[in-house]
Amino acid sequence: MMSPNLAPIPELFVSHESAQKLKIEAGELPSWDLTPRQVCDLELLMNGGFSPLKGFLSQADYDSVVERMRLADGTLWPMPITLDVSSGFAEGVEPGQDIALRDQEGVILATMTVTDKWTPDKAREAARVFGADDIAHPAVNYLHNSAGPVYLGGPVTGIQPPVHYDFKARRDTPNELRALFRKLGWRRVVAFQTRNPLHRAHQELTFRAAREAQANLLIHPVVGMTKPGDVDHFTRVRCYEAVLDKYPAATTTMSLLNLAMRMAGPREAVWHGIIRRNHGCTHMIVGRDHAGPGKNSAGDDFYGPYDAQDLFREHQAEIGLEMVDFKQMVYVQDRAQYEAADEIEEGATVLNISGTELRRRLREGLEIPDWFSFPEVVGELRRRYPPRSQQGFTVFFTGLSGSGKSTIANALMIKLMEMGDRPVTLLDGDVVRKNLSSELGFSKEHRDLNIRRIGFVASEITKNGGIAICAPIAPYAATRRAVREEIEQYGAFVEVHVATSLEECERRDRKGLYRLAREGKIKEFTGISDPYDEPEAPELRVNTEGVEVDNCAHQVLLKLESMGLIAG
Ligand code: PPS
Repeated sequence: MMSPNLAPIPELFVSHESAQKLKIEAGELPSWDLTPRQVCDLELLMNGGFSPLKGFLSQADYDSVVERMRLADGTLWPMPITLDVSSGFAEGVEPGQDIALRDQEGVILATMTVTDKWTPDKAREAARVFGADDIAHPAVNYLHNSAGPVYLGGPVTGIQPPVHYDFKARRDTPNELRALFRKLGWRRVVAFQTRNPLHRAHQELTFRAAREAQANLLIHPVVGMTKPGDVDHFTRVRCYEAVLDKYPAATTTMSLLNLAMRMAGPREAVWHGIIRRNHGCTHMIVGRDHAGPGKNSAGDDFYGPYDAQDLFREHQAEIGLEMVDFKQMVYVQDRAQYEAADEIEEGATVLNISGTELRRRLREGLEIPDWFSFPEVVGELRRRYPPRSQQGFTVFFTGLSGSGKSTIANALMIKLMEMGDRPVTLLDGDVVRKNLSSELGFSKEHRDLNIRRIGFVASEITKNGGIAICAPIAPYAATRRAVREEIEQYGAFVEVHVATSLEECERRDRKGLYRLAREGKIKEFTGISDPYDEPEAPELRVNTEGVEVDNCAHQVLLKLESMGLIAG
């Protein structure tokens, strides 16, 4: 009998002929354009990565998964895989109806028979699945600020997988990996889940884990969606490829997983285990704080460091895959080698470079020693992260109308242009509203759209090494945060709160708008008849009352210098 991890796993795809027919028939169906996260989920649903799921969760399965980590029939399943849609789309769809699921270019990937439509209690989902309804958690933030308000559930019929243009040869479906392991005769395979570049300590620990489990090793990095701010997957994959050569020949392979992570710690670890079992692995390494989301809004960790290991251990038999606990490897200077932290002699000198310290060294162009990482990996990271003074960045002014944002932004632009080392673009509120957002008004929806457009342009400028200066009111904290996340993929985001008080703005009333707003002639006016969320932790707060513009702009320059964004 074939070992259970090597037998083919059921997929949701129909035959090529049926797919061709379905594609034509689906032309008549209501179409949902999937979000990037939904594309990731759908790919793993269709190729068996999320087996035993047969589609997006029904309401009964969703409730049961949220409450007790199990599908309604009792099968272990820790993560709600839901199709969230806009209320507009949901209104046009009724249970019993088929819909077409398309990628962002409109290419059809699947159809779904809608069996359920409901409005979820997102606060409950956050509390039960992620442990707290706290938007400092990336998935909770996503749930409240990106996910649509209505969920649709139902079985999926797969037409074709999403197309990937990058690293094609490194992407494998569960069945492709199972077939590979069969071909290589690998009966025991330990998976290493990662969203970070691998350095020497990781290489040592994965190698040891494989040896201890008497298994071959699968480096299985996530390339779908990881934590905002992570190293992009292009850079990471080049790094992984360099590290692969460091393992003994024919012991190790690497495959890319198009998973959208939720950073759900313990529940995520169980989920990762099920996914790896589906990909034909027999073991998985679970480390300290597996898939941890970082700090909550009170500054504490969301989960205990070993909660993920505990939950995994408890459910190991049902997951169908054995956990290999992470042995923390540290560099022992006196012995010039890596050793397990719990095995080193007392008094030995242990060296370590934290993630924060590594980023600091990259940012400042400082040495990264050979004992820490491989020269090829450091080379890739340096190429991706040149010192901050050579990277693009965005200065994002926010404040009430008439607070002085535009004036300070203009002065800052001139000062940066005088320095002349990077191109500077000013996206002033009024200018943007003339050129990019001329059709928009001042409702919440329109303001958000306006800020997201500014964020998009600024992120492109930042990505390409320029300086973007934005100066809209940007009254909503959640939207500012979304823009920050978009930009921080490429460079620094420096939020400057121009903290002129409402009384002072109204007293100055440079455009005469406050008077009109008070008279009710301008509706939804920020500060008068519309809200302004004060930034809680901007990089800089400038007070303009009794301070000259030149001085305010100078404060920003000093901040940029202290952040290493401009050469001192
Ligand atoms: S937002 O909220 O960020 O989209 O606003 P923004 O694009 O910065 O546009 C603000 C400028 O538009 C003028 N204006 C109003 N502001 C606030 N509320 C209402 N209802 C409104 N109507 C017009 C105002 O001149 C703002 O310019 P600044 O430079 O901020 O004073």
